[in-house]
Amino acid sequence: MENPFLFGSAASDKWFTDRKDDTQRLKANFTHGINTIIISPRRWGKTSLVLKVANEINEKNIIAVNIDIFACRSPEDFYQVFAREIIRQTSNKWEEWVANTKKFLSNLTPKISFGSDPNAEFSLSIDLKNTQLNEEVLSLPQKIAQDKGVKIVVCIDEFQQIADFSDSLTFQKKLRSVWQLQSQSVSYCLYGSKKHLLNTLFSKQSSPFYKFGDVIFLQKISEENWVQYICGRFSQTGKHISEDLAAEICRTVEYHSSYVQQFAWIVWVKTEHTATETDVKDALDDMINQNAMLYYNYIEGLTSLQINFIRAIADGVHDGFSQQEILSKYHLGVSSNISRIKKSLENKELIDISKKLITFNDPVFRLWFSKEM
Ligand SMILES: Nc1ncnc2c1ncn2[C@@H]1O[C@H](COP(=O)(O)OP(=O)(O)OP(=O)(O)O)[C@@H](O)[C@H]1O
Ligand SMILES: [Mg+2]
Repeated sequence: MENPFLFGSAASDKWFTDRKDDTQRLKANFTHGINTIIISPRRWGKTSLVLKVANEINEKNIIAVNIDIFACRSPEDFYQVFAREIIRQTSNKWEEWVANTKKFLSNLTPKISFGSDPNAEFSLSIDLKNTQLNEEVLSLPQKIAQDKGVKIVVCIDEFQQIADFSDSLTFQKKLRSVWQLQSQSVSYCLYGSKKHLLNTLFSKQSSPFYKFGDVIFLQKISEENWVQYICGRFSQTGKHISEDLAAEICRTVEYHSSYVQQFAWIVWVKTEHTATETDVKDALDDMINQNAMLYYNYIEGLTSLQINFIRAIADGVHDGFSQQEILSKYHLGVSSNISRIKKSLENKELIDISKKLITFNDPVFRLWFSKEM
């Protein structure tokens, strides 16, 4: 039997729900060569959305190339991955990978190797010692697009990684200067999860990527959609859940995409025929326990001030942290501590600050914290 719910990898097909407006907007951007930036907290569905649109668009003379730079630690890593993926994903014939490498990267003394199945395993490494030539890597999409007479959309996941490169600003300037000269045939979709880092990359006037493209702040999937989805997946797999209980599932995890799927899955496993209140209650305990190790990792190494601050948010305090009453109730010391604590917890992605309101990024961590701490 197929999985009723899916979490831990990008949602596609029957596991993908809603996001109609985002899909339409992204499709229009991809088709018309408009650069896009997508920002959201972890596990809300950026990758799923981009891959879905990229798949749908592939039919129309537009090639979407998906690159994940999570493992890249330096501009050199970036260039290597960029070159390999652009070559590999703009054709499905290995003969063409070889031909394009020779045609467009010969100045960088490329080395290619294949596994026993050439279509499955392809590696490429280029010589980046002569930094003058690095631009040849960045203009690769443009050259291939012209050569093949197609449009190319380069989608780069975990783009915030570039902020951690040493001398990141110089690298950003270089990317921007090459990319902005590329014609309509190439566009970029840059996305990632560290909201504050991405905000700095794209929203600060002094940043090279300021006003680079259409910025989408991904929203949560609505209750209506989730309820329909959860009830639908139950009935397609021979079980039943009421709309009320389905709504309770998504409310409990604050409509967080990955947790809705995980929670619904555990409820489904517990359900014999029709889900009960008890199934949902037990499933919540299981989910919190299953993720407990993760939450211990979250708090490991936090200072007591940081823990106290989290305790305040868990209690429902969202602003007004400089008030004496809150400072003393939660043992936060002097008010000048607050902005430092906020910044450090935001950097660790434990909290989100939007319109001055502070909330947990991870709703189940909040439940665990309130229970255990
Ligand atoms: N449109 C959707 N419909 C249903 N479930 C979804 C959808 N988008 C995301 N999910 C759920 O959320 C999970 C995380 O999705 P995804 O990996 O796309 O998020 P992300 O924002 O890219 O995460 P990360 O910040 O870790 O990169 C998926 O495994 C799936 O369970
Ligand atoms: Mg992702």
